[in-house]
Amino acid sequence: MQHKPVLLNEVLEFLRPIENFKSFLDATFGRGGHTHEVLKEFPHVKVTALDRDPAAIGYGKVEFASFIQDGRLELIHTNYSIYGDAQNHFDGILMDLGVSSPQLDDPKRGFSFYNDGPLDMRMNPDDSVSAKEIVNTWTEEELANVFYHYGDVKKSFRVARAIAENRKVKPIETTGELSKIIERALGWHRKGHHPATECFLALRICVNNEFEHMEKAIHNFLNILSPGGRLLIITFHSAEDRKVKNLFLTLKNLGEPVQKKVVKPSREEQVQNPRSRSAHLRVFERAKS
Ligand SMILES: C[S@@+](CC[C@H](N)C(=O)[O-])C[C@H]1O[C@@H](n2cnc3c(N)ncnc32)[C@H](O)[C@@H]1O
Repeated sequence: MQHKPVLLNEVLEFLRPIENFKSFLDATFGRGGHTHEVLKEFPHVKVTALDRDPAAIGYGKVEFASFIQDGRLELIHTNYSIYGDAQNHFDGILMDLGVSSPQLDDPKRGFSFYNDGPLDMRMNPDDSVSAKEIVNTWTEEELANVFYHYGDVKKSFRVARAIAENRKVKPIETTGELSKIIERALGWHRKGHHPATECFLALRICVNNEFEHMEKAIHNFLNILSPGGRLLIITFHSAEDRKVKNLFLTLKNLGEPVQKKVVKPSREEQVQNPRSRSAHLRVFERAKS
């Protein structure tokens, strides 16, 4: 499945009022859904787009070749948390967090319990620690902490115990094996909601060190945001949104949130794109002087 950009109209509407809007940083290129619309809607804007996944950048270099040739798009394979020291300043910056649909749907990437594959979950396959290593080598207590802190899993100790018991027999190698272990440990409670959902999310956040990179990037990005420029952040679960909300409050000396209330997808979008259901958008505007 290709990636449908979430909250696309809302993103464009928040970018529209930026005065003298000339440069845009898409920190999470993915399949370029947002980048494409920004290039189309704002013909005078130049876009720099980042992604830590080489597959995303490889895709962009082919599919967006004409924009690159025209000098309107630059694609960079990097982690956004180390980009902030660049010389460039941007009038608009977007972070659309989490994974893209192609990452989730490719069994080889090991993100999903619906598609059995090697237990991996690295957004950048060159990173050192995979989900398999964490699941098979971290202590029971460390695993319980991961599930509790990153996935809000209430029975995190029960899951960690089940993993520890199972790996004594043989290493846990695939997403299918892990999801079965979690399913047996927690049981089904809600129709249509796989009991491994939050544990998989927690592991993914841990493997990719997502919270730490996000916090670092927000600080860096505010330094390279032009006066009057806007930073837009789309998150996909409550712990992440809470972090963004609180960070924005601590940055009051630099500017202010554009609106207090979080922006959520319309009912129509949620029906058309079920993956958008948990999306939350917050926008921060850098003070003009
Ligand atoms: C939800 S997708 C973005 C989808 C994109 N907005 C679109 O419409 O096609 C998130 C992307 O961010 C990338 N990503 C996540 N964390 C990152 C990081 N720390 N640095 C750079 N890219 C990151 C992922 O590899 C993934 O491709």
